[in-house]
Amino acid sequence: MPRAIISPSVLASDFGQLTAECKRMIKGGAEWLHMDVMDGHFVPNITMGAPVLSCVHKGVPGIFMDCHMMVAQPEKWVNDIADAGGSLYCFHLEATSDPLSLIKAIHDRNMKAGVAISPDTPSTAITDAVGEAADMLLVMTVYPGRGGQKFLDRCVPKVAELRKRFPNKDIEVDGGVGPKTIAPCAEAGSNVIVAGTAIFGAEKPEEVIATLKSAVNT
Ligand code: DX5
Ligand code: ZN
Repeated sequence: MPRAIISPSVLASDFGQLTAECKRMIKGGAEWLHMDVMDGHFVPNITMGAPVLSCVHKGVPGIFMDCHMMVAQPEKWVNDIADAGGSLYCFHLEATSDPLSLIKAIHDRNMKAGVAISPDTPSTAITDAVGEAADMLLVMTVYPGRGGQKFLDRCVPKVAELRKRFPNKDIEVDGGVGPKTIAPCAEAGSNVIVAGTAIFGAEKPEEVIATLKSAVNT
């Protein structure tokens, strides 16, 4: 299995102190920062877009921005997110009719490409060609749209199915993940762990990050 990567979701942070919050997470042991981009169409909420990511990129040297694009037209934002310093562009399979072309466009802008599936999308919707072309597969463990929701156990088997088909890919879980729910995710083969509330809501985020990381490594 690829190495453990912890990607705190900044959606749960104080947006007024965004760069400081990102620095605090990196200091606490996080490898990536998970940036939830919502457009008010694919999901009802609006969060942040390229201008905000650009400020974070400038303010936090060397940051790896794991951009989770909950947007209706993922093709539209590839250039803006690349220009803003995005490191990984993860789009929803439900939002595009041509995932292979989109992955190519993302790679052409030197970003890693991720493919996300919502709770009602089966793992088989990710074809072999798409899974092989992508760098990361994201199994949502809540319905995309907001932080702080309850972890959906029924999504975990999809992680195992994808790990079997794609042994060397990064497989990310996102939604309601924390020390109480990490065990089944890690056991199923997820190695990239997103956690918002569980990390930012903790008194000592570095301890939560270490706990999540060691769960993946065991
Ligand atoms: C949900 C977002 C998640 C969310 C995770 O739509 O994609 O990244 O912020 O937050 P928690 O860990 O609080 O569920
Ligand atoms: Zn997310």
